[in-house]
Amino acid sequence: MSQFIHLTIPAKAEYIDIVRVTLFGIAQKAGFYYEQIEDMKVAVTEACTNVVLHAYTNQQQGVVDIRFELEEEGISIRIKDNGTSFKYEQALNKNASHHNKDLSEITAGGLGLFMMQALMDKVEVLTEKGTEVILTKLIGRKEEMA
Ligand SMILES: Nc1ncnc2c1ncn2[C@@H]1O[C@H](COP(=O)(O)OP(=O)(O)OP(=O)(O)O)[C@@H](O)[C@H]1O
Ligand SMILES: [Mg+2]
Repeated sequence: MSQFIHLTIPAKAEYIDIVRVTLFGIAQKAGFYYEQIEDMKVAVTEACTNVVLHAYTNQQQGVVDIRFELEEEGISIRIKDNGTSFKYEQALNKNASHHNKDLSEITAGGLGLFMMQALMDKVEVLTEKGTEVILTKLIGRKEEMA
């Protein structure tokens, strides 16, 4: 049976470390390796930073909902906002153009979603109302690590 932990924070940069600390506690308790937790922390930070930077205008007092869902096979982290949405496919295409580039050629923007995909086992993005990013890490991947 899966279990949930919910966290709601103001959509402000100074609260994102609370998400990282919470994630660390949950993932460590679940048995993830340190390296896996570090990867998840970067991915979750990117998703939360996107909410802070892109979802709400300065006039809006937005929040970010973070839901940690523990399952037998791993963890899913849902990062949700009710702000302005975006076209995920278009953003992905922008990212896809990074694949054949040297990192030094990539100057500004468009790295967040790319990094989430590189660091997690699965990334889903729902953009019907606001944005919901669902990041999944499988615990069974442990033994594949060098
Ligand atoms: N939560 C969100 N709400 C609204 N728009 C978003 C959200 N997340 C991403 N986006 C849109 O998707 C685009 C791509 O996001 P991505 O994180 O890949 O790049 P970036 O934030 O522009 O730059 P970087 O993350 O490299 O600093 C953003 O520029 C923004 O337009
Ligand atoms: Mg970003």
